Amino acid sequence: LFKNMNIENNILNIGGLKVTDLAKKYTTPLYVMDINFIEERIKEFKDNFKSKHFKTEIIYASKAFLCKGMCKIIKNMDTHMDAVSGGELYLIKHSNFDMQKVHMHGNNKTYDELLMCFEYNIGCIIIDNYDEARKIVDIAKLKNKKMKVMIRVNVGIDAHTHEYIKTSKHNSKFGVSVYSKQLNEIIHLILKCNLLEFLGFQCHIGSQIFEKEAFLEEIKILIIESKKIENIFGIKIRELDIGGGFGVYYTSEDKPIPIKIFMEFLISTTEKILAEEQMSIEKLYIEPGRSIIANAGCTIYSIGGIKETYGGTKYIFVDGGMSDNIRPCLYQAKYEAIVANRASEDRVQKVTVAGKCCESGDVLIKDYLLQKCEVGDFLVIFSTGAYGYSMASNYNKIPRPAVIFIKDGKDFLAIKRESYDDLIKLDINY
Ligand code: LLP
Repeated sequence: LFKNMNIENNILNIGGLKVTDLAKKYTTPLYVMDINFIEERIKEFKDNFKSKHFKTEIIYASKAFLCKGMCKIIKNMDTHMDAVSGGELYLIKHSNFDMQKVHMHGNNKTYDELLMCFEYNIGCIIIDNYDEARKIVDIAKLKNKKMKVMIRVNVGIDAHTHEYIKTSKHNSKFGVSVYSKQLNEIIHLILKCNLLEFLGFQCHIGSQIFEKEAFLEEIKILIIESKKIENIFGIKIRELDIGGGFGVYYTSEDKPIPIKIFMEFLISTTEKILAEEQMSIEKLYIEPGRSIIANAGCTIYSIGGIKETYGGTKYIFVDGGMSDNIRPCLYQAKYEAIVANRASEDRVQKVTVAGKCCESGDVLIKDYLLQKCEVGDFLVIFSTGAYGYSMASNYNKIPRPAVIFIKDGKDFLAIKRESYDDLIKLDINY
């Protein structure tokens, strides 16, 4: 159990509230986010990602989970945030977030999205490629507006994570290779435009990473190549952004590095390599998403049926599935669960938790030891806070669940449950 959870009278409590009460109050499926947990996590990052030699900043990777309420939390914690689309920018803007603290990512930002960055006066655009750099120069001139920019570079590192979430191998679609001619061409373009302010390089080597060594490699390459660029162009690389991807606990197979140790490692590694290369920077950024939000969230489902197949699989059917958590299907991601109203009972049966989508692959947990359960019981799947709601879909016209926040022992709605009307509101009757 996570530290914000406990069991009382056989019932699971989250942030001091009974899961059974929450399920009855809001109905299921229901995403639950513990705000105190998120705030503690961010504080842990902030307290430990600090250096005497340069400034540091945490950028929350909003793709992991984004809503107006989340923006409020990030704002209260005085943290930066990234965006990767016009939609994310729009939501962030409409939650009264300080747009100067927004960093815009993406490998194919459209002209309109780039325009939006200028109109919203965001903090920084991370340029992915040459064509994008040209568009940015055009817009800056057209609007006669300044913009801070970084360049996303690819350092060619193979962090041992799932193929789909690796991002910095040499053939990745993201960024430009630190070793390529294109990089110099982009820098030329930026330096020629006096409306653009070139801060430095950004890199992200992947997600759900448990190896410190991958970051060491990344930082080393970033600093060495930055120094080369400084010499070639006679400029100063002032800021580096080493991305996110810090691995978290989903099941006992995952052995996350404690944040304090991870952050101290990143700082000391950066300081050491900077010293070795006789280089200095003004600021270092990281971009954690999952490691801030994954363990803060869970999903409550109702069990609607139990079926034992001829082949011997015992299915537990829940009232959600791949529509609210695509990760098991997409990445073979594993999760842990509990029968929330029988939480202190022994785990006595091996089950497969399946969703309600019309798809054999709609399985949330396979061959998993669970408490005995009955129709009408509540199943909680842990650590669904990251890339759960944000990757949810309306497949089979299933409405997206509600999201509730828990803070200081109180629950409140953060995102409403979709209605059937929401599902058909864009359809045209012709
Ligand atoms: N920065 C950049 C540029 C990124 O592309 C990402 C994630 C992050 C930061 C945050 O990474 P995190 O700290 O959350 O690992 N949907 C996948 C993960 C995709 C990650 C995409 N980029 C999943 O559910 O596992």
